[in-house]
Amino acid sequence: MHAWLCENPVGVDALTWKELPTPQPGKGQVLIRIQAASLNFPDLLIVQNKYQFKPELPFVPGSEYAGVIEAVGEGVTELKVGQTVACLSGTGGFATHTLAPAKLCMPLPAGFPPADAAAFIMIYATSHHALLDRGQLKAGETVLVLGAAGGVGMSAIQIAKVAGARVIAAASTDEKCAFCKELGADETINYQTENLRDRLKELTGGKGPDVIYDPVGGDFTEQAFRSIAWRGRHLVVGFAAGDIPAIKINLALIKGASIVGVFWGDFSRREPQANAVMMEELAKWYAEGKIKPEIDRQMPMSDLKAAYARMNSREVKGKLVLVN
Ligand SMILES: NC(=O)c1ccc[n+]([C@@H]2O[C@H](COP(=O)([O-])OP(=O)(O)OC[C@H]3O[C@@H](n4cnc5c(N)ncnc54)[C@H](OP(=O)(O)O)[C@@H]3O)[C@@H](O)[C@H]2O)c1
Repeated sequence: MHAWLCENPVGVDALTWKELPTPQPGKGQVLIRIQAASLNFPDLLIVQNKYQFKPELPFVPGSEYAGVIEAVGEGVTELKVGQTVACLSGTGGFATHTLAPAKLCMPLPAGFPPADAAAFIMIYATSHHALLDRGQLKAGETVLVLGAAGGVGMSAIQIAKVAGARVIAAASTDEKCAFCKELGADETINYQTENLRDRLKELTGGKGPDVIYDPVGGDFTEQAFRSIAWRGRHLVVGFAAGDIPAIKINLALIKGASIVGVFWGDFSRREPQANAVMMEELAKWYAEGKIKPEIDRQMPMSDLKAAYARMNSREVKGKLVLVN
C-alpha cells in the first residue's frame, strides 16, 4: 500500500508519499481499499499540529473516506469482504488502504458514488446536529450561514432548506455567492464587498436572522451576533478564519439570544443512539435527492499537496475529493 505519511507535523510540505506494508485487520477492524477521500478543514490543521486531536507520530492524515472492504478482523460480523463503506475515523484516508474500526463504517447502499460518500458524513452530520438539534431551527425562520460555499456551509444551506427555513448565505466572492444560490440559498451577501450588518438589516426588515451558523469566526462573528433576532441562536461551529472571537456577553442579554456550542464529534460519541437516528435520516434525504454534496473537483491522491493549497487559499466551492 501507499500512504501520505506525516512524520513531523510542521505542515503540508513535510508530508511524504511512502510505500508501507499492507496491514492485516485486528480485532474489530476492517481493511479498506480506499476509492475516495475528502478534504475537511481539520485535515489542514492536523498536519500542522494545530488540531485539538493530536495523533501519535507518524500518522496518515485523511479523516474521511469511502472504499471497499478487503479483509475483516476477528469479531466483525456486520461487515463483509467486498462491501462498500464510508468511514470517518480521523486519520488514514490519504492512502490506498487503511485499517478502520468496523463500528465507524457506514455501509453504503448501491448507487452511492464513492466521491459523494467520502464527502458526506462530516459535513451533513455537523449541520444536521447544529441546525436542528442545537439550533432548534423551525420552518419559516431565517438562517444566516457564514462561509456558506465551504464544506459545512454548503451542507448547512441544504439542510436549512429541507427544514423549510429561509437562507441568507454569506461568502467572500461573487462566484461563491452564485454557487450558494445554485445550492438553494434565498439571498446572498458578499461579506468582502458588502457591509454584513447593513445587508442583514435590509434582508430581514430590521429583525435579523433567527439562527446564525458560524464556521468562520474572526471579525464576522461579532458583526453577525450584533444583528441576531430576538431569541436568536448563534451556532459556534468553527474558526476557519483563525481567530477565536471574544464577544461581550451583554450582547446576548440585549437580544435574549443564545450562543450555542456545536461539537458533532463528541455528540456522536456521547449520544450514539441519537447520532444513528440522525445518520439514517441523512441517508434517506440523500436517497430522496434532498441533499447532495457538490464536489468542487476530484483530484488524484498523488495531488494531495495541490488540494491542500486550494483549500488553504479559500478557492474550494463545496468539497474537494481525492481519488485512487
Ligand atoms: N463543530 C464541529 O462539530 C465541526 C465539524 C466540522 C467542521 N468544523 C469546523 O468548521 C470549519 C469549516 O470547515 P470546512 O471543512 O467546511 O472548511 P472549508 O470547506 O475550507 O470552509 C471554510 C470556509 O471558511 C471561510 N474562511 C474565512 N476565512 C478563512 C481563512 N482564513 N482560511 C480558510 N477559510 C476561511 C471560507 O469561505 P469564504 O472564502 O467565503 O470566507 C471557506 O469556504 C472549520 O473550522 C472546521 O474545523 C466544526
